[in-house]
Amino acid sequence: MNISTQSLRLTVNGRDVELRSPPLTRLAHALRDELALTGTKIGCDAGDCGACTVLLDGEQVCACMVPVAQAAGRAVTTVEGLAENGTLSPLQDAFHRHGAAQCGICTPGMLMAASDLLARTPKPSEAEALDALGGVLCRCTGYRKIVEAVLDVAGVSTDEVVDETPVSGSAVGARMAKVDGQAKIDGSEIYGADAAPDDALWLRVVRSPHARARFSLGDLDGLRVRCPGLAAIYSGRDVPGSNSFGVYPVGKDQPVLALNEVRYRGEAVLALVGDKASVEAIRDEDVPIDWRVLEPVIGMAAAGADGATLVQEGKAGNVLARGLVQKGDIDAGFKAADHVAEGQFETSFVEHAYIEPEAGWARRVGERIELHVSTQAPYMDRDETAHVLGIDKSQVRVVPTACGGGFGGKLDVAVQPLIALAAWLLDRPVRCTFTRPESMASSTKRHPARITARAGCTADGKLTAFEFHGDFDTGAYASWGPTVADRVPVHATGPYVVPHVRNTSTALHTNGPPAGAFRGFGVPQSAIAYEALYDELAERCGIDQLEFRLINAIRPGQPTATGQIIEVSAPLADCLEAMKSRWRALSDEVAAFNARANGTRRGIGIGGMWYGCGNTSMSNPSTMGIGINAEGRPMLYNGAVDMGQGPNTIMVQIAADALGAPAAAFDVVMGDTDLTADAGKSSASRQTFVSGKAAQLAGEDLRRQILRLANVGDDASIELGLGRLVVRDGAGERAIDLAALKANEAGDVLTGEGTFDPPTTPLDANGQGSPYATYGFGAHIAVVEVDEALGTVKVLRVVAAHDVGKAINPVQLEGQIHGGVAQGLGLALMEEYLPGRTENLHDYLIPTFGDVPPIETILIEDPEPLGPYGAKGIGEQALIPTAAAIFGAIRNATGARIRFAPATPHRVRAAILEARKQKDASHA
Ligand code: FES
Ligand code: FES
Repeated sequence: MNISTQSLRLTVNGRDVELRSPPLTRLAHALRDELALTGTKIGCDAGDCGACTVLLDGEQVCACMVPVAQAAGRAVTTVEGLAENGTLSPLQDAFHRHGAAQCGICTPGMLMAASDLLARTPKPSEAEALDALGGVLCRCTGYRKIVEAVLDVAGVSTDEVVDETPVSGSAVGARMAKVDGQAKIDGSEIYGADAAPDDALWLRVVRSPHARARFSLGDLDGLRVRCPGLAAIYSGRDVPGSNSFGVYPVGKDQPVLALNEVRYRGEAVLALVGDKASVEAIRDEDVPIDWRVLEPVIGMAAAGADGATLVQEGKAGNVLARGLVQKGDIDAGFKAADHVAEGQFETSFVEHAYIEPEAGWARRVGERIELHVSTQAPYMDRDETAHVLGIDKSQVRVVPTACGGGFGGKLDVAVQPLIALAAWLLDRPVRCTFTRPESMASSTKRHPARITARAGCTADGKLTAFEFHGDFDTGAYASWGPTVADRVPVHATGPYVVPHVRNTSTALHTNGPPAGAFRGFGVPQSAIAYEALYDELAERCGIDQLEFRLINAIRPGQPTATGQIIEVSAPLADCLEAMKSRWRALSDEVAAFNARANGTRRGIGIGGMWYGCGNTSMSNPSTMGIGINAEGRPMLYNGAVDMGQGPNTIMVQIAADALGAPAAAFDVVMGDTDLTADAGKSSASRQTFVSGKAAQLAGEDLRRQILRLANVGDDASIELGLGRLVVRDGAGERAIDLAALKANEAGDVLTGEGTFDPPTTPLDANGQGSPYATYGFGAHIAVVEVDEALGTVKVLRVVAAHDVGKAINPVQLEGQIHGGVAQGLGLALMEEYLPGRTENLHDYLIPTFGDVPPIETILIEDPEPLGPYGAKGIGEQALIPTAAAIFGAIRNATGARIRFAPATPHRVRAAILEARKQKDASHA
């Protein structure tokens, strides 16, 4: 092997290739940049995530850690090499059938690791599969369906898989494979970092290394002279419109590029634009910035202290927003209680850890700007870009790429205003991909919570009163802080009937990273508190924990904490009833284990949840469109971004049945703001419920028009033919010649549209009203094993029952639940973002294959009359009760009250010792 020459020969996917990259170039970059094999993904570029896994002479390696010189003369196989003549390999096919790919960004790496395993061990055990795939991280799936797929292709087991393509009228309810699944599995899907025009410049952001500082810029012209590859250096002064963004129209408090002052570590200060090599060669210390470091406000205690430094001028007491829900007479409620439980709870910053870092590119097209980005909210991106550039919204086009995971973190803009600014001013395409540490330092987080709560009940277990206050660390900028402050008091009592309630919340600014939207908007943190208190009350009443929840579960016709009466579809009790037999059997197993165990203890816990689908007390509309072109092919114009959670498929299933056409006939265009109507953001568990209803209405609208054209009755069938539609009813058959109809700009000759805005009411001064049109309910059981000496916790089993209204696609629902449980497990036991200390996927731990236990899912169908075919959302619901159930199980095992998430071993150990101390004291 000669590494001094400028070209290297190797075999890639059976083809001899010559690479001209320098010998130390990492193989992942050479494959992507030189050979355009972008199926190999880069999630961390540091050997931590496994997204870049390829086979080198048949063995899995992280291609981001292998210099190309090491691959010289050897055989490399990437995901593009798995399919033969366009036919998926059996392994890829198994992934497709099992729904093993959600966002798909980890899928190539998973497939390559599994290929290595199956080549060595054709019939692996589950343990061998977990071990062999353990180096690849997935943030979406909870791993279970990946394991199922691998064992299926090995012939070891065959769990339930997808249905054959459903025929006309049977798409809703079918276990249909993802309509966009193949591209995620064969490596052809294009994510934010995968493509850009050849002449695109590279943008790199210079960020603050300090949590709080003032700064002045030095001789930037000198830097430009020293670095001829630099095309431009932009500061906040170069922003042509408003140097600010933020999700609320009145809360645009975050600068695109900070001016004079930074408020959190990782804040953007300058954008360097030029050829990639030149821009990346500039070290931060080469950039002339004069920092004056100031004492930061870290943590909520500091932010709320008397005389605390203000993180933002004008925000008195560092308060961003407050929330309140109160009803009844809280004092009378506690007076009526025979038992009262209370406690303080804390949680940490949690990182979204989507495997795809923020990425995209932009170009100027005349007086318009076009962005191709990974996003959850293309219309919000459009509006923010127009605001930053000082142009009209109609001058901005956002074309979402595939999104490699979001979970709320890609609701806020990241690369968008920066690449738009540079492309607009330079009139050159500009691309940007955040590094992993940059992504983690700069992006929003789950709000840390500091909660004080108490709950009272009668001796027979009926809740009488609940009081809650939660402070939430919203970091330096507003992001979704007001949403958390609004949503938490509504949900803080849990899905139970409580006559007397007082729930308050405060979102406080600190010099931490901005906390934003993360699957649940503060509700998972609240669930940790309310479920712990209900466990204690159940114990004091001598009532089984599940029974206690059944006694208090909200049922149709009963009031929530905001006084809203949910008339139908409030089936928490059904979820609990469905879990009863598992609860009892698992409780017996736990007791039997503990009777013979020594050193480790097992425990079982339960957590309940509810979650309002959509925005809180706000208009929240979605519009969807369907067109049929002259060839007779239907197109769904779907503005609801699919970040892996499945709207591309769900919307097709709904639209197909509403139209009366086979789902397989549909093409989909997703999220392009020039082509699709606004379907709102993919968040708040709203897309299936809100956009799904819009898709149903669009399908019905189109169907009505077709039937009218054919002059037939409502029950006629529609058959899509080449260039014509054949409509049949009892009276016979009519053909509609599509070529004879006038086509619109998109080429459609027939179109249907549907809009749905779920009915809500504003909350009054006491937080009373109907903030959501519907709620999803559910409960999780967790079984854990605790090593009492070490404080380590292993989750052995989860049972998750969820009310989904109507299961549009059970495979997708199971996948969402698995992924939610995995993220809930991470929240409970390991995830803690510490600025400057856990800014990579090595130090910041997320659940891996070995951490996620078998998960049994139970889908409860109690149709929601407003939803599409009765359906509700599931995205946030699936995560909310997991941590609460795990903490309940730890308490059941050891007596330890877990009051801080994550319950890392040292905290669990301390809680166990504290519990023993209290027990000894009570016996003394
Ligand atoms: S990109 Fe190579 S391990 Fe993460
Ligand atoms: S499907 Fe694995 S990270 Fe999204």
